[in-house]
Amino acid sequence: MRARFYERLLLGAKKYPEWAHQKQWAEEFASPENYEKVLDYWKRYRHLDEIVRITTLSRQSRILDVGCDISTVLHYIPGHRVGLDPLARRYRRLHEYPDGISVVSGSAQDIPFPDASFDVVFCTNALDHCASPASAVAEMRRALKPAGFVVLTVEVFSAPSEARNAAHPNSFTRESLLDLLQGIEYKLCKESPWYGLREYCLGRSPTQERELVFVGQTPS
Ligand SMILES: C[S@@+](CC[C@H](N)C(=O)[O-])C[C@H]1O[C@@H](n2cnc3c(N)ncnc32)[C@H](O)[C@@H]1O
Repeated sequence: MRARFYERLLLGAKKYPEWAHQKQWAEEFASPENYEKVLDYWKRYRHLDEIVRITTLSRQSRILDVGCDISTVLHYIPGHRVGLDPLARRYRRLHEYPDGISVVSGSAQDIPFPDASFDVVFCTNALDHCASPASAVAEMRRALKPAGFVVLTVEVFSAPSEARNAAHPNSFTRESLLDLLQGIEYKLCKESPWYGLREYCLGRSPTQERELVFVGQTPS
């Protein structure tokens, strides 16, 4: 019931502005070439090898990807993998997630798992889609085991701005993001150019924006 509520919230009155884009992306991500390019992007710009090393990801790890979308990082890492997204039900119709990845409906602000369920929580380019990023971070911390890892990728701007558009009710600077993550011991914090996965696959140049990859560990 709650899951349907979040789906309706996103797709409802305002019509989710990114839905047409998602349908197109589902087709494109199905091609082996783009599948490999997304992995290449994660390794070059989102430091995937370093993330795997820092978080000691293994087949035993319990991993959640919040705002997982279709091209979730879960495709490229080992472990017990769960994706969470308000549009999960619709994404499952567009994309056949491989065995070993389950994708469930729900919101970052109300994660439908008990406390201390996961070793690692990813959230990639989804925090600025949330109405309340502070509640989303609190929920990720709740769902993490003690000494668990949070891996965030967030687009950052050089100056604070008001809400950008309907799909992105929030925007961050590096400072405002790090403020939100106080109390999480940082292990990696790197900025890269922001392309967008689809744009990268299409061979477009980076935009002027940057994205910040933050890996932090919660207290034990
Ligand atoms: C840009 S896409 C994320 C891309 C993907 N994580 C990746 O690795 O590139 C943003 C996603 O956030 C989801 N989203 C929107 N509001 C959300 C919320 N409140 N909680 C969790 N996910 C949300 C959208 O449905 C969409 O799938």
